[in-house]
Parts: sequence; C-alpha cells; structure tokens
Amino acid sequence: MTTEQVTVNDVGPRDGLQSQSKILTVDERLQLVEALIAAGLRHIEVGAFVSPKAVPAMAGTAGVLSALAKKDRSADAIHTVLVPNLRGYELARAAGANSVCMVVYGSDAMAQANVRMSRRGAESAATEILQLARRDGVRVTLTIAVAFECPFEGAVDPQRVCELGGRLLELGTDELCLADTIGAAHPLQVRSLTGSLVGSYGASRLSCHFHDTRALGLANVFAALESGIRKFDASIAGLGGCPFAPGASGNVATEDVVMMLEQMGFETGIDLGPLMKAAELAQKLTGTASGGRASAWLLQNA
Ligand code: COA
Ligand code: ZN
Repeated sequence: MTTEQVTVNDVGPRDGLQSQSKILTVDERLQLVEALIAAGLRHIEVGAFVSPKAVPAMAGTAGVLSALAKKDRSADAIHTVLVPNLRGYELARAAGANSVCMVVYGSDAMAQANVRMSRRGAESAATEILQLARRDGVRVTLTIAVAFECPFEGAVDPQRVCELGGRLLELGTDELCLADTIGAAHPLQVRSLTGSLVGSYGASRLSCHFHDTRALGLANVFAALESGIRKFDASIAGLGGCPFAPGASGNVATEDVVMMLEQMGFETGIDLGPLMKAAELAQKLTGTASGGRASAWLLQNA
C-alpha cells in the first residue's frame, strides 16, 4: 500500500506576518522562509504585492523573491506571492514570481473591506490575471475568502461559493482554495462544501485554508480530509490574522497540522524537528506566543 501524500503550504511569511504589530525586515522574513525550507516545506507563501500603505509588513517582497532566486531555492519549490489586483500581478511578474495567489470573495462587504472592489469586480480581476498568467506560464491559486462566514454579512450561502468555485475551476485555475478567513466554520459545513466541490470537480486542484480562532482548525482540516482534500494552508506557530477582517486570529499551526497528518499515516515530506525550530524562530522574530500545541507535546515526548 502506498502512503497517501498531503501537501502543506505555509502561509506564515504572508498571512502570518501581515498583521503583526512588529514589522520584520526583508532579511528576517528570509530567515523564516529558509527555516521552513529546511523543515522540508516545498510550498510557501512568501509575501504579497499589495499597497505598502495598506499592509506595511509586506513592503519589500521583491527583495524576498530575488534573494530566494539567487540561492536557487525554487527549483522544485512553489513560492507563491499574493496579489490583490492587476497592479500587484504586474509587480510580482517584474520581480520574477512564477506562482501567484489572487483572492476572490464570498461576500461583497469583505471584498470592499479588503480591496475596495465588489465580489464581481474581484472575480473579473481574477479572471483577467488568470489569462495573463496562462500567457506568462505563471501558476495561479485563486482563494475564495470568507467561503463560510463573513465578519460583516454573516453566513455565506454555500451555493454561491460552489458556483463561484465552479466558474474558476472551469476557467482553469491551477488551484482553488476555500478560506475560512475568520475561523467561523464548523466541520460539518466544511465537509458539505468540500464534498460538493470534490464531487463535481475532483480533489486534485482543491485546497483549504483554516484559521484557528475558535480552536476548530484541526477539526476542519479533518473534515476536509474526509472529503478527499489533500492540500492545506497552515501557518508556522499559528501566526496570522487578517488586518481587514475583524476577529480573525491566526491560521491553524503548521506544526499541529503536520503532527496530526503524520500520526494518521499521511506523508507530508516535512520533518517535525526542524519545523519546531522554525516555529521557535517565528516566535522569536515576532515576539508573539505560539498558537500551535504540537511543539510542547513533541518536546516533552522527545
Ligand atoms: N501594490 C502596490 N501598490 C498598489 C497596488 C499593489 N498591488 N495596488 C494599488 N497600489 C497603490 C496605488 O499605486 C496607490 O498608491 P498612491 O496612493 O501612492 O498613488 C494606492 O495603492 C491606492 O491605489 P488604488 O488603485 O486607488 O487602490 P485602492 O485604494 O482601490 O485599492 C489596494 C487598495 C487593494 C491596493 C490595497 O487596499 C491593498 O493593497 N490591500 C491589500 C489587501 C490585503 O493584502 N489583504 C490581506 C490579504 S487577503
Ligand atoms: Zn488567512
């Protein structure tokens, strides 16, 4: 029997750092990315090309990319940058990015708060970016933010999310990520939404992004696993939160997700020892406590 693989994409250097009160230098951000690479992470969201006025912590992402390229760090790795609009896509391309993540929205209010667009406006910007990326040979992840609940509008209609996801998959996105931006989803909701999309499109291009605001991060990962999802975003040491989504706290911690998956017999290719070192570094650099539980357990049982 072959072991089933699950891919973990660490979004700590982007989702994790964007809302920290302490802004890291490009060199510190690189140290964090390097620590994740050393732990075996092949998929990392390394930054964002967003307005430095809106998100000062992501200024200098071009420097992160060029340093990684110099070290030839991306031969078989996928280092993604977030782009909020066409301008961001162009800046990302100019900096040599070959994998981008663009966000679309389950609600109009969240789209307005985040990028001052309507839901439809963000979808058409994503469509345009997808077409350009095709031409440029750039990999695209489209993330549906507030796929379950919006901090401004409340519950999001799953039918709406399924239809939006279906349109984006049919347009040929390399990956469609369902994001519980504020950590409000519960496992049965997750199983139902992921189950519908997997039923229609298969699981190979689908992924999930959970925040651990209410300690339901791992339960939601498990629910999505049951539907066949085999790729998850997570953030080292549970860093994170969205500056434009009130109440959002950190992502489910990478070390917790990896520990659970490995214990369940999935293969992640990630080494927990160096991963704990990366979690320690994340805490040291940001000065915030770990949201993850795995490190304490693993150290005690080492
Ligand atoms: N990268 C860098 N600067 C950008 C940019 C980008 N992708 N898009 C726009 N800008 C700049 C413009 O040049 C302009 O600068 P100026 O004030 O010096 O002239 C300023 O941002 C406003 O531009 P405008 O086109 O009016 O944008 P907006 O105000 O409608 O949109 C966003 C603002 C979307 C650019 C901004 O809110 C943003 O970057 N948000 C990031 C959201 C985010 O990262 N959320 C968390 C992750 S989901
Ligand atoms: Zn997030």
